[in-house]
Amino acid sequence: MKKAIYPGSFDPVTLGHLDIIKRSAALVDHLIVGVLNNSTKTPLFSDERVNMLKEVTKDIPNVEILSFSGLLVDFAREHNVQAIIRGLRAVTDFEYELAMSQTNRVAAPDIDTIFLNTSLKYAYLSSSIVKEMAMYGGDISKFVPESIVDIVRERYSSSYNIKANENGDIK
Ligand code: COA
Repeated sequence: MKKAIYPGSFDPVTLGHLDIIKRSAALVDHLIVGVLNNSTKTPLFSDERVNMLKEVTKDIPNVEILSFSGLLVDFAREHNVQAIIRGLRAVTDFEYELAMSQTNRVAAPDIDTIFLNTSLKYAYLSSSIVKEMAMYGGDISKFVPESIVDIVRERYSSSYNIKANENGDIK
């Protein structure tokens, strides 16, 4: 059984991530999407990231969504995974991704990294862009799966209201 893991922060999942998930799920028998719980990063979405990914992948039967902390290679070994999938959007991603894949290869020579190029129409996209657009009330429906548009929007409208309230802008 060919198993791979597609790891990331997914804060939040974008159409670019979903594109990589669909294409890699077609290449393997089982794909684990690993959502990183990183103690050095405070995500905008914490546990909801797993639920959002479950929602947007519910029609892809061989995809499983799990969260992990610690080393990626340990998580991959724990699940008998043979390959790590990463998306490359532009040449600027390459240096970081190469160093990461080489480190992982030294730590776990039996696990390979497979790079998929992100589809051209999502090459510019990142979770930060989505958050910035949502923060200023921009239309994010071209950036994230339809089923999570409102969740992302609402997160910002509630934090906007808290801030505005603190500043006395809301009477
Ligand atoms: N479509 C849209 N956006 C994409 C994308 C795609 N196809 N591919 C990458 N991105 C964006 C993400 O949205 C994210 O944007 P942001 O910076 O605005 O949030 C950015 O690229 C990088 O995100 P991601 O792919 O989630 O990677 P990451 O750098 O957050 O995490 C891990 C990478 C999880 C693989 C890595 O940190 C890891 O393995 N950590 C565990 C610890 C470990 O083992 N370390 C040793 C490895 S050296």
